[in-house]
Amino acid sequence: MIMISASILASDLSKLGEEIKRVEQYIDMVHLDVMDGVFVPNITFGLPLVEAVKKCTNLPIDAHLMIVQPEKYVERFVEAGSSIVTVHYEACLHLHRTVYQIKDKGAQAYVALNPHTPVEMLSDILSDIDGVLIMTVNPGFSGQKFIRSTVEKIKKLSNTIKQKNLNVKIMVDGGINENTVKEVVYSGAQILVMGYGIFKYDPASFKKKLEEIQCS
Ligand code: DX5
Ligand code: ZN
Repeated sequence: MIMISASILASDLSKLGEEIKRVEQYIDMVHLDVMDGVFVPNITFGLPLVEAVKKCTNLPIDAHLMIVQPEKYVERFVEAGSSIVTVHYEACLHLHRTVYQIKDKGAQAYVALNPHTPVEMLSDILSDIDGVLIMTVNPGFSGQKFIRSTVEKIKKLSNTIKQKNLNVKIMVDGGINENTVKEVVYSGAQILVMGYGIFKYDPASFKKKLEEIQCS
């Protein structure tokens, strides 16, 4: 089953609790885009918001850390209530160590790749991680246009995971909507991170479209 992780960055943050309740029946997780203004050209929110979202829903929280030196904070993101913590390959000098900081705390460790980073960069750590987040836009903002060249990366990674018989999930993030969903799902994506596609459009109609795709 394909899962949806809703990125609250595209929601009306002035009524976050209501926004989560509005889409809750259509989604599987809540995605928090943590940005530091250094790794990406935008600043969003941090640990207190994980705690706040935790009080609004029983759905798992997936924290996407777009920050430098994530090793300084990953444990605290798990303690605050994140079930998945995603760090960027490009932000980690000692990725293997950081992955085990997350896992040893009891959360799932995902590694994100910017659009220009080849999937081969993860070949020696693939069996240690729970998932790969393929960025399908440049990280930093909601509502950007899907970068089509990332589809080949999804296919390549999906084939590698199958060949090696690994239990590693593929998550995609950025520009996923009714027009792009079929391509990413057919290429091997299993978790769809969606901001605009869920909060700014009709989540029920998207869910219906996703069910049709999975049945065809
Ligand atoms: C981009 C973020 C995404 C973003 C997705 O840096 O990682 O999670 O919020 O938003 P949409 O689905 O609107 O592209
Ligand atoms: Zn994200």
